[in-house]
Parts: sequence; C-alpha cells; structure tokens
Amino acid sequence: MVTAEQEKRVAAEAAAELVEDGMTVGLGTGSTVALCVPALAARRLDLRCVATSPRTEAAAREVGLRIERFSTVAHLDIAIDGADQVAPDGWLVKGGGGAHTREKLVAAAASRFVVIVDSTKLVPALGPPVPLEVLSFGLSSTLRRLAAVGPVRRRDGPRSPDGGAICDYLGPVGDPRSLARKMQGVLGVVEHGLFPPELVTEIVVGRGASVECLDLRDLRGARRGGKRQSSLSGRPVPPPGRP
Ligand code: 5RP
Repeated sequence: MVTAEQEKRVAAEAAAELVEDGMTVGLGTGSTVALCVPALAARRLDLRCVATSPRTEAAAREVGLRIERFSTVAHLDIAIDGADQVAPDGWLVKGGGGAHTREKLVAAAASRFVVIVDSTKLVPALGPPVPLEVLSFGLSSTLRRLAAVGPVRRRDGPRSPDGGAICDYLGPVGDPRSLARKMQGVLGVVEHGLFPPELVTEIVVGRGASVECLDLRDLRGARRGGKRQSSLSGRPVPPPGRP
C-alpha cells in the first residue's frame, strides 16, 4: 500500500527536477518540503535559496544548499512549498506549520510557485481550520475583533518564525476570496493561510507511485479563451525546466 509519505516523496522529487542551474529558489516549510530539500541538493546545481523557516534553513544548510537572506533577494525564479488543503479551483490552505506569512511572501516573489502535496490534501472545498498569524501586541483585542468574522482559537504551539501568535479560524470557509478579505481587514492580523490560485503556477500531486501536475497557467489560459477545463484532472508532470 502506498502511504502519504511515499506520495509526498514522489511529488517532492518531481518538483526538485523542475529547478535549473543558476536559479534563485524559495523553499517552503513542512514535511513535504523536507523531502524536497535533499532531492534538490542531490542535483548539485548552483542555486541561491531562500528559506521560509529556521527549520527549512537548517535542513538546507545541512545538505549544502546556499541560503541567502530574503531581504537581499528581490526575485525568485521558483518557489516550492507544501499545502494543507488544495481545492479543485487551485485555492489553498497553508500554515499548518505556522509559517504561512513567510511562505506567501516567498510565493509572491517567485515567477513559479510549485505546490507539492500527497493526494490526501485534495479536497472538494476548503474548510476549517484556516491558520492566521496575529501580532502578539494586542492579541486579545485582535481575537475579539476576529470573533466578528467567526470562531478563532489560539493554537497551542510555537509562534511564527517572526514571533507572531498562530491562531486557527474554525468557522465555515464558503467563498475563500470573501473570507480572505474579511480576515485581512481585521487590525492586528498579520496574514491568513488562504492562498489564491493567482499565486500558484503548478500543483504537483503524488498519487500512488506516480505524480500528476495541474498547471494553473493552462487553466487561466483556458478561461481567457472561454474554454472550460476540468480542475486537477491530472496528467504527467511536465518536463523539467518548462518555462
Ligand atoms: C507550513 C505549511 C506546510 O506547507 C503545510 O502545513 C503542509 O505541510 P506538510 O508538507 O508537512 O504536510 O503551510 O506553514
């Protein structure tokens, strides 16, 4: 029987193959990224990497990847990261590891944002919990304001890599864009874990022993052309280096 761990591994290794020599690379956080880091290092490319958490940074340095401070890197060629939930239209929930603010900043700086998941992460619609990073200063008053959006609970776990409190929104998601707008409008919220499809270029899914890739750029092109395309239909991962 193929486990989620094996599916993560095949997705992680396929994503590592998309990276080319000389690239600037954003590295996300989590157990799937942890499998991608050694696969990337094994390719022995000349890369400049940015890590979204101390955990990823330590793992990357350990295998010899060059890590730069994100404050000195304006653009990334590619960023690779996991996700907690992937909806059929490409919306994501991230932040299971509490690093979603950094992860969103890194994804936004990248020409390609490749999401790597096992097949259990594919959901028919996004649901709770949706992680939130909240400024520690005034946390109780921010939580009070957030209650107007829905139930939010402070997570019993470590803070974000930048010291923010990690909370989880536990209400219904419904339209993710509308919920994202509401959360972002609450003073004291640093960032929420809803990632829009516009941020994503590819979703690489481990399914059994093989990988499927949804290219959201194709999906966007199909929409512009007025054609309908089924989401997460699954097809072989594109050849490495496809622009
Ligand atoms: C961390 C994240 C992770 O990418 C997400 O939680 C998925 O983790 P994993 O690869 O361990 O399943 O968003 O903030």
